[in-house]
Amino acid sequence: MKAEHARNVSVVGAGLMGHGIGAVFALHGHNVTLMDIRQELLSNARTQIKNEFDRCIQAGLMTHDQRDDAFRRIETTLEMKEAVAGTDLVVEAVVENMDVKGQVFSQMDEFAPSKAILASNTSGLPITKIASFTKRPERVIGTHFWNPPLLMRAVEVVRGEQTSDDTVNTVRMILEKVGKKPVVVSKDVPGQVGIRILYTMLREAISLVEKGVATAEDVDTVIREALGTRLTNLGVLELADLSGLDLALTVSSNLFKDLDASKEPHALLREKVARGETGVKSGRGFYDWSKRSPQEVIRTRDEYLMRLLRER
Ligand code: NAI
Repeated sequence: MKAEHARNVSVVGAGLMGHGIGAVFALHGHNVTLMDIRQELLSNARTQIKNEFDRCIQAGLMTHDQRDDAFRRIETTLEMKEAVAGTDLVVEAVVENMDVKGQVFSQMDEFAPSKAILASNTSGLPITKIASFTKRPERVIGTHFWNPPLLMRAVEVVRGEQTSDDTVNTVRMILEKVGKKPVVVSKDVPGQVGIRILYTMLREAISLVEKGVATAEDVDTVIREALGTRLTNLGVLELADLSGLDLALTVSSNLFKDLDASKEPHALLREKVARGETGVKSGRGFYDWSKRSPQEVIRTRDEYLMRLLRER
């Protein structure tokens, strides 16, 4: 299948990621069918898409006509057969659980046209394993969108062992046409590229807090105000080139032996979870969320992302 022939896109699982992925495709002219297991989840997805489109209009990223056209292109269903009939591309965004994804892929394979590409938004489950639940492993691929899909540009395109070059190229072109920056991940490694790097950073950040080197707030200030601002327009390898690879070699020689290299989650993290301190959802994690508004944090994040998109 050629990218320009991918008119119909289905998104299975209309939660946090699925509704946003559906919105991206609808905004760029695709007919989108969203599927989930309960009607109220589909209604929520529609409401969220409308709210996000409205915020994009306020930010000058979209017109009223674009919103109305995109919204008209979105249909919803509770039936897999209906969701994927006549589809060109299915993006699965159900919970991160191999049993559930296996069942969903097996159904998608049964009901989608044989030429359709089946993609998973998994954050790290092996695409090769997911593909094994279908009879078309050459047309199964990972498309790891970042949250929120409407505002984040990078999408990791993950090859399974049997994914064909044709599938990789088609998906890459489809994503470019909807304004994304696809990155081909050529080996099906756990955590792909972004999540591996994020968790390398999280491992060191938790270790610094655990050892009493700095508070959680101070670690995050360094990440936001030093690393984050600089890395919005420079890659870390580009940064190493700018400061000199000889310097990178010296610092690596001195520092690597001291960096955290835990093979298991830290005691601090285990204890917090055991105490029920799971973050925003319980009101306490590394921060006391009874004193901060998560909605405000997310709003500030999205306003910043919209500003970046406007300026690019
Ligand atoms: P979520 O829990 O918000 O949404 C999952 C949706 O799938 C729910 O609405 C659920 O009802 C639906 N679902 C469950 N079983 C289903 C089935 N058999 N058929 C149809 N729908 C079904 O989860 P979220 O956060 O959207 O994650 C979805 C996928 O995206 C996961 O694989 C996750 O690892 C990945 N992901 C998540 C990111 C995040 O920031 N939350 C970022 C990038 C990837």
